[in-house]
Amino acid sequence: MSSTIERELELRALTRMEEFDACVELQRRVWGFDDADLVPSRMFLIAAKTGGQVFGAWEGERLAGYALAFVGDRHGRIYLHSHMLAVDAAFRNSGLGRRLKLRQREDALERGIELMEWTFDPLEIKNAYFNLRRLGAIARIYVANQYGQSSSRLQGALPTDRLVAEWWLRSPRVVQTLAQGLAPDFAVTAKVEVPAEIARWKQAGDPRAGQLQAANRHRLEQAFAAGQAALGYERRLDGSGAFLLGHWEGNWGQ
Ligand SMILES: CC(C)(COP(=O)(O)OP(=O)(O)OC[C@H]1O[C@@H](n2cnc3c(N)ncnc32)[C@H](O)[C@@H]1OP(=O)(O)O)[C@@H](O)C(=O)NCCC(=O)NCCS
Repeated sequence: MSSTIERELELRALTRMEEFDACVELQRRVWGFDDADLVPSRMFLIAAKTGGQVFGAWEGERLAGYALAFVGDRHGRIYLHSHMLAVDAAFRNSGLGRRLKLRQREDALERGIELMEWTFDPLEIKNAYFNLRRLGAIARIYVANQYGQSSSRLQGALPTDRLVAEWWLRSPRVVQTLAQGLAPDFAVTAKVEVPAEIARWKQAGDPRAGQLQAANRHRLEQAFAAGQAALGYERRLDGSGAFLLGHWEGNWGQ
């Protein structure tokens, strides 16, 4: 993928309907959603107009990736919910996903926003590694079957279980992670394994995918109930991964 690294990409906030249409086209290719599950252009427009974020990365006229976030309010504090991050397959694994997240963070901090959240499928090894290890997000909330049935190609026929990624944008943990490239080490109390075969099992409708999902859901929910959080992720050469759990104390935003 080295040729991708050399490509000149322009990252910018999107404002025009034609730009949002390009995001929807990319969304269709990345997730393979039915029309009913697609986030339409007008929702991108509304996000952009109501304090959310729509950033796109362009190679000339070609959209290479985008990030879409909505604004949220919890107990009177404003935060961002990043609903989608998509990178065209031809541009992946060259740091573009990370650049888009960093652009979102920079914009949020300029506006005094300290928390960004999003959800991710705990069976997607790459995403878990990217979120927890490369960005320094943490996860301590498990949502079983968040969206109900999904037409996403990435989901297989499984329930849409999601982990909530909390990215405390100013926290020492995140600042350190971004400075050194990897989340800091910590005392690991437990691991939750995800075998490399999971992607194949999901795509093939293999019952082992659902069994693993249920087993890991149980382990993660129990750990979170006992005050642990997913603070790291191990990525192995054989393609497998593992959540690294540890104790968290206090407010991650401090
Ligand atoms: C998730 C996604 C946005 C990441 O974009 P990207 O441009 O490839 O991301 P980056 O290149 O910045 O980082 C990806 C990291 O994952 C690593 N990675 C790639 N394949 C991996 C795998 N199978 N297992 C673990 N890590 C993997 C890369 O090596 C890279 O880490 P590094 O920087 O330490 O080398 C992109 O893969 C995508 O669009 N996926 C489909 C949609 C999706 O799942 N979106 C996120 C949920 S909303």
